[in-house]
Amino acid sequence: MLEDIQTLKSQVEAYQINTPEDLEAFRLKFVKKEIPALMGNMRNIAPENRKDYGLAVNELKGLAQEKFKAIQDTLKAASLEAGIQAPLDMTLPIVPHQLGSVHPLTLTQNRIIEIFERIGFNVADGPEIEDDWHNFTALNFPPNHPAREMQDTFFLEKDPDIALRTHTSSVQVRLMENQKPPIRAIMPGRVFRNEAISARAHCIFHQVEGLYIDENVSLIDLKQTLYHFAKEMFGKNTKIRFRPSYFPFTEPSAEVDISCNICQGDGCNVCKYTGWLEIGGSGMVDPNVLENCGIDSEKYTGFAFGMGIERITMLKYRIQDLRLFTENDVRFLKQFRNLV
Ligand code: PHE
Repeated sequence: MLEDIQTLKSQVEAYQINTPEDLEAFRLKFVKKEIPALMGNMRNIAPENRKDYGLAVNELKGLAQEKFKAIQDTLKAASLEAGIQAPLDMTLPIVPHQLGSVHPLTLTQNRIIEIFERIGFNVADGPEIEDDWHNFTALNFPPNHPAREMQDTFFLEKDPDIALRTHTSSVQVRLMENQKPPIRAIMPGRVFRNEAISARAHCIFHQVEGLYIDENVSLIDLKQTLYHFAKEMFGKNTKIRFRPSYFPFTEPSAEVDISCNICQGDGCNVCKYTGWLEIGGSGMVDPNVLENCGIDSEKYTGFAFGMGIERITMLKYRIQDLRLFTENDVRFLKQFRNLV
């Protein structure tokens, strides 16, 4: 019996272990099977030899466990080292990299700028915090006139009034004060109105306004310019129409509609079965505004228009809820990834 132990001992000592698989085979063969089998054999051993037998088996068990542990440590250390030193495999596919996308409002704004630049309009910019003169008074809003209430204003200071601009018409005033006609420019930018946020309205939104002042500028120029814009933006079959309206700074004034780009004018739920969609306001610059800004209203005439960038983006990409523009939901934004 002791010879069996001796044989197993030499086997344990001689067993070649080079890989984790060898180590597992060793464990199963000796630690799990052969050595417990020798233990189980105890009852067949003569009582007087049991002590020696037990000691010998225990010694063998210790030997096997030690060998297992030592090799396990060596293999672990080697595999860690290999991990650090493994050469870079340049043929592996790269981890997909998420690229950002241009915001849909920026897409629309860029497109609007592109269309107007091609017909000779510059881009003008101005401050978002404005005084009463540039946002209202110069634009022919008389003091205490109800027209001021058409645009619920966020006031920052009272007397003199300082407010967040309610439209980019304030930039028109700045341009007219600082440049001599001819003036041909568009003013894209953020505007602010104290309105409840809903699917169709927000207290912060974007406008692009346009201004053209020169000798003999007429309503026909306004109509053709906006007609050109509508065809470029929404497709060559787009029609436009003007509806008489009121703005303090233009006379006459008109609201601008385009034929519904979804049903082509047949009537659908987007255009509320009218076949037309409103995109903005427009008109001939009121002579009072020209005079307020130091431009001779006998010599010069001009047109102005203003459109909501959110509104145009919603029509172009058929977006139902304006709040999506500011929620930063990547699932929404990702959809514009391939557009530039
Ligand atoms: N400023 C107007 C608005 O924000 C839009 C507009 C601009 C109307 C120019 C007519 C001419 O409501």
